[in-house]
Amino acid sequence: MSNLLFSPARLGNLTLTNHIAMAPMTRSRAFNNIPNELIATYYAQRATAGLLITEGTSPSPNGLGYSRIPGLFSPEQIAGWKLVTKAVHDRGGHIFVQLMHTGRVAHPLNLPVGAEVVGPSAVAAEGMMWTDQEGPKPNATPRELTTEEVKAVIQEFVQASKNAVEAGFDGVELHGANGYLIEQFIHPASNRRTDEYGGSIENRARFALEVAEQVVRAIGKERVGIRLSPYGVANDLPHYPEIEETYTYLAEKLNDLGIVYIHLVDHSAMGAPAVAPSTVKAVRERFKNTLILSGNYNAERGEADLQSGLADLIAIGRPFISNPDLVERLATGTELAQPDPSTFYVGGEKGYIDYPALVEASV
Ligand SMILES: Cc1cc2nc3c(=O)[nH]c(=O)nc-3n(C[C@H](O)[C@H](O)[C@H](O)COP(=O)(O)O)c2cc1C
Repeated sequence: MSNLLFSPARLGNLTLTNHIAMAPMTRSRAFNNIPNELIATYYAQRATAGLLITEGTSPSPNGLGYSRIPGLFSPEQIAGWKLVTKAVHDRGGHIFVQLMHTGRVAHPLNLPVGAEVVGPSAVAAEGMMWTDQEGPKPNATPRELTTEEVKAVIQEFVQASKNAVEAGFDGVELHGANGYLIEQFIHPASNRRTDEYGGSIENRARFALEVAEQVVRAIGKERVGIRLSPYGVANDLPHYPEIEETYTYLAEKLNDLGIVYIHLVDHSAMGAPAVAPSTVKAVRERFKNTLILSGNYNAERGEADLQSGLADLIAIGRPFISNPDLVERLATGTELAQPDPSTFYVGGEKGYIDYPALVEASV
């Protein structure tokens, strides 16, 4: 059987050099929330991935809940991202930006002046949030968005998506996973609303689907993907009875919109509950475009899931941190370098752009 992992892949109109995506990973090097040359170097070093998906990037000042994460709503941020997309494209890579509005997973100290912590309902997420000023602080209780404001947030996603195209990105990944704003609307524990954005499955899915629909209208369906994490419990979102029904419904509606991919998260190797195989199957059956699977993949398991047709692309996270030439190493069976978690989120070059490739190419 011919190898799929290392052979070219289609993603909408794009031809990727292989079936491996680099999973989105926050690295907290965007001082003042603006991408810079350091970040461009990091992504350029990893441009042999078939598709790079950037770290979570906020479409709004209100969505910058973590310290030093980038945004995509100001001219300075667009200019900063242009450095990144050019560096990646110059090396033959493709890159989508992950649009992450942190919603209630935030502390006001991390937000710019005038911004505020908002969410579907005034329900705080248990957990601590790092602040550079005062260390760890409990997540803030969000202010509940009015119906009118929900529609304005959708427009922030639309504008950020247009900015993404202006900045040279090949597309956007809507972050509908891991307990951030889009999932806060999907999930009944964080969404207690009584308007059209809360209550039934249809209503809780409405925000995600309206964001997707309007972003498609603005930049084209070939440029829009979404990340989802059924059964993920990150950021204080416990299990609820209708998980499979909810994601089956989402997959059907996202298929109707014709977006280019759904990217499913499985963090069971990181201690999260397993994703029900029946839910992955339900999404696979209903969604006809590209399905990306992620979570603790190596080459062997990736190849198996591509061959069986369960996945169309495989996203890999942590190994890309410490192996900029991960694709080459997997293809040749070379031992992988281990990443150092103590440098995941601290600023600077160490643990970021200083992991060597087997053959150093000039960036
Ligand atoms: C340092 C770090 C930062 C991450 N940041 C994000 C993020 O910004 N957005 C996201 O959707 N997932 C994020 N994740 C999750 C990864 O995308 C991925 O799902 C996870 O690492 C599991 O894949 P792996 O086993 O291949 O590493 C992050 C993971 C790590 C280790």
